[in-house]
Amino acid sequence: MEVGPGAGNTLTAMKGTREFMSGAASDTLGYEQDYLGPLLRFQRGRTANIDVVNRTDDPITAHWHGMHVPGHLDGGPQLAFDPGRTWSPELPVDHPAATLWYHSHVHGRTADQVYRGLAGMIIIDDPDAVDPLPRDYGTNDFPLIVQDRNFDRSGRMSYDPGMMDRMQGFRGTEMLVNGAIRPTLTVPAGLVRLRLLNASNARMYDFSFNDGRQFHQVASDGGLLPAPIAMNGLRLAPAERAEIVVNFTDRSAVRLVSRNVSSGGMMGGGGMMNGGGKMGSGSDDAPFEIMSFDVGDAAETGPATLPASLPSDLPDLGAPVRTRDFTLNVHTGSMMGGMFNNLIGRDGQIMGINGESYDMGSIDLAVPMGETELWRINADMMVHPFHVHGTSFQVVTMGGRAVDPARIGMKDVVLVDGPTEILVRFDKRAEKETPFMYHCHILEHEDAGMMGQFTVG
Ligand code: C2O
Ligand code: CU
Ligand code: CU
Repeated sequence: MEVGPGAGNTLTAMKGTREFMSGAASDTLGYEQDYLGPLLRFQRGRTANIDVVNRTDDPITAHWHGMHVPGHLDGGPQLAFDPGRTWSPELPVDHPAATLWYHSHVHGRTADQVYRGLAGMIIIDDPDAVDPLPRDYGTNDFPLIVQDRNFDRSGRMSYDPGMMDRMQGFRGTEMLVNGAIRPTLTVPAGLVRLRLLNASNARMYDFSFNDGRQFHQVASDGGLLPAPIAMNGLRLAPAERAEIVVNFTDRSAVRLVSRNVSSGGMMGGGGMMNGGGKMGSGSDDAPFEIMSFDVGDAAETGPATLPASLPSDLPDLGAPVRTRDFTLNVHTGSMMGGMFNNLIGRDGQIMGINGESYDMGSIDLAVPMGETELWRINADMMVHPFHVHGTSFQVVTMGGRAVDPARIGMKDVVLVDGPTEILVRFDKRAEKETPFMYHCHILEHEDAGMMGQFTVG
């Protein structure tokens, strides 16, 4: 199992084919390769110069998800560029050590392009901070890009979302890790760091190991936690990351598995779809397999034990100077199969935020730079992973309950499952030509208009 090693500074988006299943070539997209992209490794304090070349048939972008860069470098929808063109951002790397990712972000095409392969992982290293965890890439430190995909009867990867998939988000029936179906990874008999990225369009995971073993979460979206947290299971919504450390010294071969996670009932008590109530609430289904681990020789490098505390970077954001409210909506007209077209949003988009579908030409908010704000997020009917560009935020409440920031860390995606509050502050500018986005990271919802945009200045 591999992910391409660190890239040079050209990132060419291209068409390819890959035999996920032997004998069946699937049409795919990738950066520098047939599917997904190379790991990009950036150093804090440096500038990363990248030439993104478009050799696909459609406009693309390269959005650096989680990086704190100004709007004109962010790779949002306004920065889409055509086939044959090159985009050359110079990215100042001003971010603590963390696991981030990149993906295309063309409005209305993000779900399709990411599904076909336009995504990859970013690791930020901080030369001025001691990382006391396993950190030999490919030896005891591994990226795990987790995705679910569908395959047709001939074994080709397929994506053809119907109305229900647009409503609920598209879920596949087969698991891919780093572009391979349920691969096996050989790890040393010691502590191993796994950088989990949920790069699925819509599926949530409740990760665990088939033997129920304990592991420790050491980082979330924005970087290290103040201390490792022991757990047996970890939930990751689309676009979330978590770094975990697993102890393989007992040498038993184990599997990474997940349970099915419900994304909530679209129809509340209405009962029009799937009998109403919670959708896909087969949460007591048997766990499904994601990948397996073989244990090799004793680890030669890396720490033998986990440190009690970690060099995390949790800023004190202070008290908010203002509050904003966001409600993630499914436009009710769309549920009747378009019977009430007046209730469907702009350009036939079926989802929105605060009643409005995404409009590339209009700015929803102007946020002053450097001021802490409280954002209160609510959702109709379903749970949605809410993502904000340009910064990392602190979660204050989830599902109406206060949470401990030390256990959550700095985030750029939060699962909105009941009333959710976050503290945000921006220190990167975004002009109206290239604003920052906030959106649901179920990619079918984002493409259907559950997105807004804002300036920072
Ligand atoms: Cu992962 Cu707006 O992006
Ligand atoms: Cu993003
Ligand atoms: Cu959503």
